Amino acid sequence: MEQTEKKIILSGIQPTGIFTLGNYIGAVRNWVNLQEDYRCLYMVANMHAITVRQEPAKLRQQTLSCFALIMACGVDPQKAPIFIQSHVHEHAELSWVLSCYTQFGELSRMTQFKDKSAKNASNINAGLFTYPSLMAADILLYQADLVPVGADQQQHLELSRDIANRFNGLYSPTFTVPEGYIPKAGARVMSLADPERKMSKSDPNPNGVISILDSADDIIRKFKRAVTDSDCCISFEHGSAGVKNLLTIYTVMTGKRMEEAEKEFAGQGYGSFKEAVGVAVAEALAPVREKHAALMNDKSYLEQCYTDGAKFASHLARKTLEKVYRKVGFVNTPRF
Ligand code: TRP
Repeated sequence: MEQTEKKIILSGIQPTGIFTLGNYIGAVRNWVNLQEDYRCLYMVANMHAITVRQEPAKLRQQTLSCFALIMACGVDPQKAPIFIQSHVHEHAELSWVLSCYTQFGELSRMTQFKDKSAKNASNINAGLFTYPSLMAADILLYQADLVPVGADQQQHLELSRDIANRFNGLYSPTFTVPEGYIPKAGARVMSLADPERKMSKSDPNPNGVISILDSADDIIRKFKRAVTDSDCCISFEHGSAGVKNLLTIYTVMTGKRMEEAEKEFAGQGYGSFKEAVGVAVAEALAPVREKHAALMNDKSYLEQCYTDGAKFASHLARKTLEKVYRKVGFVNTPRF
């Protein structure tokens, strides 16, 4: 069967803050392409989100919105099931077991833990510390071969591999050892206000960040204000960081080749260049925004989709968890 030969991909996104053009270009757009060639599973990582204090009503709303956005971007849940992490209790269960196979020293070395605890000195909770064990559980439950992650998650993925190898070595092969997946046409989207920095949900300057759900007017306005440092020319090779960023965004969103884009803008001023990029992004995102709004207005359909996703995921997850429980010596779980 062709199905079983396809490699398994798992990825997740936290439903916190706004969903940026950076998330779209760097992550979810690739998720859409991958669903044809791999067996993909995508997860809204709401359990990870509470390592930082969240407002409950907002977290609930953002979790649904994030789920709807993944679909609105073009992930088809029939091809690539999407689920909400807390709906599949095996994540919490495997996470506990794996935390007993993860060393304090390893977790202490995680740079994200060090950064986040420096930023949240008043809430350095145990979950923030053991977060990588939960992420390992997310991945290993599905025997994922490949995990598309950004640079900030590579250390966590490396630790997942170490945990998998350790467990497999202590018992017998139990987990597939996952590898990172770096998309061929990878693109890093930088802040429009400070093109030396990554476009991030937490950018202090709201003009630097495009939300997928921004109105067309807002998108165009922010692009018009984008920092380009008017020094040279509209060229990927010779332009400033800001020009490069805009050209990258333009080519990704329109599907045009770089040379084509450069030719199109040759001899134009920065003003019309920036506006053209803004218009292209606004146009490309319009259908995503509309689909998202339609899904958010159809809660019963959304519920059906996340219920189906959770059923599919938990069926796979249970198989792995049962294997793990047996190997570590837990008595068979009675059925009742
Ligand atoms: N930790 C990831 C992030 O903050 C999200 C995530 C959770 C994830 N579980 C995952 C990503 C499993 C890939 C695989 O971006």
